[in-house]
Amino acid sequence: MDRFHIVGPTPLLGTVRASGAKNAALPALAATLLTDEPVVLHRVPRVRDIRTLRRLLDHLGMGSEDREGGAIVVRRQSADGSPNDAPYDLVKTMRASVLVLGPQLAKRGYARVSLPGGCAIGVRPIDQHLKGLAALGADVRISHGYVEATAVHLVGTRFRFDMPTVTGTENVLMAATLARGATVLENCAREPEIADLAELLVAMGARIYGAGTERIVIEGVLGLGGARHVIIPDRIEGGTYLIGAALTGGDVLLAEARAADLAPLLEKLAEVGVDVEVTAHGIRARSRGTLVSRDLDTAPHPSFPTDLQAQYMALMTQAEGVATIRETIFENRFQHAPELARMGADVRVEGNSARVYGPRALSGTTVMATDLRASACLVLAGLAASGETVVDRIYHLDRGYEGMELKLQGLGARVARLAELPAA
Ligand code: EPZ
Repeated sequence: MDRFHIVGPTPLLGTVRASGAKNAALPALAATLLTDEPVVLHRVPRVRDIRTLRRLLDHLGMGSEDREGGAIVVRRQSADGSPNDAPYDLVKTMRASVLVLGPQLAKRGYARVSLPGGCAIGVRPIDQHLKGLAALGADVRISHGYVEATAVHLVGTRFRFDMPTVTGTENVLMAATLARGATVLENCAREPEIADLAELLVAMGARIYGAGTERIVIEGVLGLGGARHVIIPDRIEGGTYLIGAALTGGDVLLAEARAADLAPLLEKLAEVGVDVEVTAHGIRARSRGTLVSRDLDTAPHPSFPTDLQAQYMALMTQAEGVATIRETIFENRFQHAPELARMGADVRVEGNSARVYGPRALSGTTVMATDLRASACLVLAGLAASGETVVDRIYHLDRGYEGMELKLQGLGARVARLAELPAA
């Protein structure tokens, strides 16, 4: 397994550009199942989760080709002959595979998708996805570890989610585009990736109103066509680099970023003493040399995203005072805390709260990544720590960060990927 070797401390200095958003590109790729026409997606990040979904699409009869300039063209290869199930072997490596359920059901009247199974950061059920599809008239059953959904045709309805769920909203939204009549979805998630998906669907001919708000109205259409779409920048990847600038005493411009998508982070960075500036070129974060501790609660957008919680914890290890971080979305998302403690941090976890006492000097050592965002946290901590840090199991990071070591090197970091040596 690849590892990162980091020498610190090193201030991050310069300009970095965020790749396209993984969590917008995944539903966009799934949406291609709704049409027989080619769909061209620009700025799809070359990360492991995208490769997994492309393999699943391939299995379902959709070919995806790389084009110059980083675009991907997805087109249906065959309708009738191709398998119609999303097998466990693919789904178990990436929960977001469940996003093929709604489009497959709406387009082909039948879908069979493996239940995702366990996840490092929490239980993560998909009951809301299934309730929403059943509300659209589908016959939804679970057997032998698979969801089987059938519908001669879906019918528009009013459905309220029990809690805002990002992929749940995306799955039901995609299915409703081909339902008969209008659908009103309430208590929807409002993440920017949902509005980006809706933009693609509208370009394909769908009728959607209110995406990005808690109430979305969809007027079903008979069919969808092809489209060309540019994926939004990745606010979580971008936010990781801005936190890195603050943590390492650096000065980073995140080029072409959308400040509105990052507003909760920018507010928090300003609150803890970072110089934040939104310019025509992007967002600049500049350390003022000291940080103050501030509490944080994660919550659905537009509040502070859970996907930046771990990186924020690394930041708070260098702040003056005590910060209480409450994780309200996932039950088990503090696995980075004991690894930070190995580097000298003082973090005390109790249930869904972590108290971070700072500042504490970090020293380099070998640490282990446990999930995607925990690995980003440990890489940032390694940049601030004195001496050498080795972050193990970097395959977690590769799921959602495109060429992280290269981008960090571009900001002056001393980081190298150590590829696993082939067995002797
Ligand atoms: C999306 O996951 C993201 N993944 C996650 O990013 C992100 O952490 C999460 O939203 C929250 O922002 C993608 O977009 C591919 P949820 P998702 O459904 O949709 C509960 C990353 O690091 N819930 O919004 O799976 C659930 O257990 C990843 O890039 C149900 O109970 O998250 C959680 O407590 C990690 N039943 C809460 O809702 C359901 O049917 C929110 O989860 C669905 C969700």
